[in-house]
Amino acid sequence: MNPPASLHDRGIIARYREYLPVSHNTPVISLNEGSTPLIHSPKLSARVGRGRQVYIKYEGLNPTGSFKDRGMTMAVSKSVEEGARAVICASTGNTSAAAAAYAARAGLDCVVLLPAGKIALGKLAQAFMYGARVVAIEGNFDDALRLVREIGESTPIAIVNSINPHRLEGQKTASFEVIEELGDAPALHVLPVGNAGNISAYWKGYCEFHELKRSRSLPRMLGIQAAGAAPIYHNRVIEAPETVATAIRIGNPASWQLAADAIRVSQGGIDIVTDEEILAAQAWLASNEGIFVEPASAASIAGLLKTVEGRGAFNLGVIPDEANIVCTVTGHGLKDPDIAKSQMGKIVTTPPEKQAILDLIGLT
Ligand code: F0G
Repeated sequence: MNPPASLHDRGIIARYREYLPVSHNTPVISLNEGSTPLIHSPKLSARVGRGRQVYIKYEGLNPTGSFKDRGMTMAVSKSVEEGARAVICASTGNTSAAAAAYAARAGLDCVVLLPAGKIALGKLAQAFMYGARVVAIEGNFDDALRLVREIGESTPIAIVNSINPHRLEGQKTASFEVIEELGDAPALHVLPVGNAGNISAYWKGYCEFHELKRSRSLPRMLGIQAAGAAPIYHNRVIEAPETVATAIRIGNPASWQLAADAIRVSQGGIDIVTDEEILAAQAWLASNEGIFVEPASAASIAGLLKTVEGRGAFNLGVIPDEANIVCTVTGHGLKDPDIAKSQMGKIVTTPPEKQAILDLIGLT
């Protein structure tokens, strides 16, 4: 017996089919991704001031814990439609987790090329558990992506990195959701930038809904890079990118031009945040708003806070009073337990006695 459609058809292809390059011949490989919460942040709104309201698009609540699932449902569905037997990607971790999960569901083989020693533990665990063939490269993400391109040219394995245009098609649906939730596009959209696909996808989504009169306005796009991995900000390739936010440890982004266009046309900006600012924003968001994100995701919050403090490259003064601001947080905090552990205080043990506990927490 088939499950009822209303319970089954919940992924982004089901929700936004008419805006995506799919037909009824496309087998839909979905894990009910998308439809993630847009959470109002009273404390960030207060910090931004002038009645402007900040919302957090919590992409960590996708099935594999990051926004990559939106693109991967499209890329894997289209790969199956086109007859692929296997998929391959280079990744700083999240793309590989999503590729492995959707490939498992589709019955495809999956190969992931990862920079050795620079993948957060949770993401590595996912790739293994979903049954991908994991290849660690003695090099960085940019090296891995170059190799994937070469392998894609000479073998029938389908590339599911964001150089596959279906990926950005899927990812643009996050903008549709924001518009539907707020009733219009926000005035400003802030998000972390690594390989630069996501900011390009969001902008594409905003432009398409604007064109279709589903929104009245277009947002300014503000991209945030890690200071040690900021090729777009510095306008040059970074040969040896380095940051605690391993997800965005990228020196030569594939969608560089698309992202630069989005930033320029939207009259937005590109800024950098230090590792210290990233970790501080990660801790602040978790302990003030109850939203635990991985370091790369916290870059958007760190970038907004830097802008609020007037230290940023973007002038917040152009954002009107009472306007909406959206920050995308791209991946779940549990992806990177080692970073969380390094931030943790000492765990104090106590005998299993009430008085000992009250003494410990200072409530004697
Ligand atoms: N945030 C997270 C958690 C990511 O995993 C990535 C990219 C980004 C932000 C940046 O998005 O690349 O579209 O600019 N992760 C890729 C990966 C590179 O392999 O998982 P982008």
